Amino acid sequence: MEKMWAGRFEKASDKMADDFNSSIHFDSKMYKQDIRGSMEHASMLCKVGILTEEDFGKIFAGLTGILNDIESGELAFDMNAEDIHMFIEAELTKRIGDAGKKLHTARSRNDQVALDLRLYMRDESFEVITLLKQLISVILVQAKKNTQTIMPGYTHLQRAQPITFAHHLLAYCMMFLRDVSRILDAVLRMNYSPLGSCALAGTTYPTDRDMVAEALGFDGVTMNSIDGVSDRDYCIELEAAFATVMMHLSRFSEEIILWSSWEFKFVELDDAYTTGSSIMPQKKNPDMAELVRGKTGRVYGDLMATLTMLKGLPLAYNKDMQEDKEAIFDSVETVKKCLSIFIPMIETMKAIPENMYAASKKGFINATDLADYLTKRGVPFRTAYKIVGTVVGKCVKEGITLDEVPLEEYKQYSEIFEEDLYDEISLETCIRKRISKGSTGYDSVAEEIAYVESQL
Ligand code: ARG
Repeated sequence: MEKMWAGRFEKASDKMADDFNSSIHFDSKMYKQDIRGSMEHASMLCKVGILTEEDFGKIFAGLTGILNDIESGELAFDMNAEDIHMFIEAELTKRIGDAGKKLHTARSRNDQVALDLRLYMRDESFEVITLLKQLISVILVQAKKNTQTIMPGYTHLQRAQPITFAHHLLAYCMMFLRDVSRILDAVLRMNYSPLGSCALAGTTYPTDRDMVAEALGFDGVTMNSIDGVSDRDYCIELEAAFATVMMHLSRFSEEIILWSSWEFKFVELDDAYTTGSSIMPQKKNPDMAELVRGKTGRVYGDLMATLTMLKGLPLAYNKDMQEDKEAIFDSVETVKKCLSIFIPMIETMKAIPENMYAASKKGFINATDLADYLTKRGVPFRTAYKIVGTVVGKCVKEGITLDEVPLEEYKQYSEIFEEDLYDEISLETCIRKRISKGSTGYDSVAEEIAYVESQL
């Protein structure tokens, strides 16, 4: 196939160079956005008198036909084309002749690709947001089922204080809600049309950039044509937001992996989202959670690749920037896949409250409450802390729990201890008496649930 720029060249390009240069095997994903952008561009060219009604009619019908034929599978992408933009333009000209050659007036592939990627990523971002909201909803259902389920809360992976499973799960709802707002925030900043920046310097034609921007649902046009074609900040911001989603999913995965081990057995994953072993008949492995944890690295890598690709690039467009797409496509596809598997995995996960409760009984997670008991009765906190530490030390040696120490013995540590200490350090009381805003207390958790619901 003769190159569009053959006039300037004395010989054809090398086949290997062509393959190396071509991006159609990944940017063909953007065919819809490319066609939509071209339709609006042509419509604007017609309105300002650059295209005749007749040519516009042909272009519009031609592009519609191409879109339909791609969707029906009738038209296959030509893998010898340099990219999706060249492919569609060439196909259009093949179908409608000279009118097709007029489409690229007052436009360059530089602003075209910048437009297509923004349109594509805007759609994808909303898909990620929808999935995040679905995930938050299924976590919320689990939380609501487990408002009375007591488990040990951990620091340093050591049992720390009693919490409810609902409270623990709601922490993830907060993370994923922030992820939604982070993505929305990036979309808002991205939502300006670069089309009309042309190659880098704008155009001598009387174009109406605002008309195209409005038709394509943008909040306005980019204000500097050099920036319009060079800016990939939105890729970085979205990849950073997706990397953060993955980090959250990975932390959650790690907990699910721990919780479903025999050492914890706080939860049981559904058979549908686990795997067996090829040799050990007893195994039930949390592969989905492990894979999500593993894929987090790729999404971090995509962000790093884009940051590094852009570092040191002179303005304006450079071919290096073609590398933006594989990174951001991988990033968004990975995050969508991981969210999609996480949703049913969480939905079908069964909590095992008895095991959580049994673990809560061990590990002295009510020790803070025992110190608070003394403090509320006038003992300075540091003194109370030391007394309780001594009692715990003794319990560890004897292999008993704080509620198994008789009152007479407590009295030897402090006269302040009375019979009511036992109620004070019961796990239920520990939860009930957490009254601070955002705490694991029952009222606070009810407020958290209402908050998350209001955000969905
Ligand atoms: N395939 C190219 C890309 O993805 C399109 C822009 C090409 N522009 C150019 N001046 N070669 O970046």
